[in-house]
Amino acid sequence: MNDSELKQRRPQADAASNADPEIATTRAARPSARSNNNRLAWWAIVARITITMLGLSICMSYLITETAFWGHSSKWTNWRNYIPRQKRVFTQLELAKHDGSNPGLPLLLAIEGDVYDVSSGWGFYGPGSSYHLFAGHDASRAFGTNCLSRKDHVTHDTRGLSEKELAGIKGWHRYFDNHQQYVKLGVVQLSPIDPAAPIPPPCEDAKPRPK
Ligand code: HEM
Repeated sequence: MNDSELKQRRPQADAASNADPEIATTRAARPSARSNNNRLAWWAIVARITITMLGLSICMSYLITETAFWGHSSKWTNWRNYIPRQKRVFTQLELAKHDGSNPGLPLLLAIEGDVYDVSSGWGFYGPGSSYHLFAGHDASRAFGTNCLSRKDHVTHDTRGLSEKELAGIKGWHRYFDNHQQYVKLGVVQLSPIDPAAPIPPPCEDAKPRPK
């Protein structure tokens, strides 16, 4: 077959294969399948390098600081926070049962309506300890007023508090939210505050927490 014959035949062959939709599809798909494979291989390499680096970093951190993340601790370094769980809605009565009087139940407290499991802080919140008043309640007011001695401050009623006191509550809320050991379990349904009810009077022996 000479050159001129070849030139005449090629377009015919191409036209035939383009006319067959199956061949055309396979041809069109081939380059993208290859690039998909390349992308997958690339991700596998990146994932392997990342996992190796992370493993090395954890080992080095344990050797040097005896902690997994170079001394850093927050809720993100607590594996319990990675367990997907449905947020529970507690009633105030249910929450009250978790004040440590039943050692078989987890120790819970609430702040601004969010409920935290503080069982690992039994020494702080368990019966007979300094901060037991917070256990089993939403005592946002006491967190804001630094009042550890009065029952009427063990309430979610924050009416009449100053900007500074409200900021104090927010600060404690962040504290519990970012705590490495404590886990947020859900929320508590708080009873509405009667606007006609008297505002708890200020606490004379409030003791700000030392810095
Ligand atoms: C004379 C005043 C106070 C002193 C000397 C004091 C001292 C302490 C100490 C030494 C700790 C343990 C160490 C720590 O985790 O930082 C602690 C924990 C704590 N304090 Fe105080 N405190 C005082 C007032 C207060 C007040 C007014 C509040 C409430 C608003 C408060 C709430 C807490 C809480 C909730 C914890 C436990 C933190 C946790 O669960 O990790 N403290 N306090």
